[in-house]
Amino acid sequence: MQVISTIAELRARLSDELAIAFVPTMGNLHEGHLDLVRLARDHGSCVVASIFVNPLQFGPNEDFDRYPRTLEADCAKLQGLADVVFAPSVDEMYPVQQTVFIEPPPIANELCGASRPGHFRGMATVVLKLLNIVQPQAALFGKKDYQQLHIIRQMVGQLNLPIRIVGAETVRAADGLALSSRNQYLSETERGEAVSLYRTLQEIRQAILQGERNFEQLQQRAVETLAAGGWQVDYLAVRNQSDLQPASHAQRELVLLAAARLGNTRLLDNIEVCLAD
Ligand code: PAF
Repeated sequence: MQVISTIAELRARLSDELAIAFVPTMGNLHEGHLDLVRLARDHGSCVVASIFVNPLQFGPNEDFDRYPRTLEADCAKLQGLADVVFAPSVDEMYPVQQTVFIEPPPIANELCGASRPGHFRGMATVVLKLLNIVQPQAALFGKKDYQQLHIIRQMVGQLNLPIRIVGAETVRAADGLALSSRNQYLSETERGEAVSLYRTLQEIRQAILQGERNFEQLQQRAVETLAAGGWQVDYLAVRNQSDLQPASHAQRELVLLAAARLGNTRLLDNIEVCLAD
């Protein structure tokens, strides 16, 4: 496995590769990322993972400076799974001030975007830059960041990039908690409570599968249950999978999306619901 930090060196290394599968990350890798990298092997003969903490997608009061940078440990985990790790510096990615941005679709201002203005604009901009640098045939993203995956699919489709976007299922701990770099910030008590987010989504899913269609009421009750367990719910929403708009009764493919804080830790989760015809 080669670790490369400049765009010129990366382009030279990849110039003869015919089928590149790419996994962009911000490092601090856990089993969820490694699962994506393993899956990438099914989508290309050369697997590239990037590690770059992208300043453009952090707001002024967010944790950019405190975001864990664990390059050495990450590379050890990627050994034997990836062929190339691209780990550029901020100056390599942004040698001049970035004044050209991707304007994401309006859904970027809802859900996670409502409390993180500019986040998806910065995310989409760096993802497009990375796709242009690596020029993969396939790129893989986790479904845990469901809104991010939706926005990337829209960008790649509407801008006609010849890249297959693969969404991978969320990897969970034994009790169901979605794996996330942020889980390490949870206290022992919070870790015990954290799985309630997933359980609550599963309960809503069950209710919908049993015929409940009052989505507003389901959302409201779930927020109340979580609040009673000490959560501050940012949003909990039943949406269409296709466009992430509020669920319409005609749609058969829905997704339940939630973001909520336990203490200082903000956790995300979602589950898809497919209704029988
Ligand atoms: O999901 C992430 O880790 C980041 O948003 C991504 C896609 C690597 C862009 O910085």
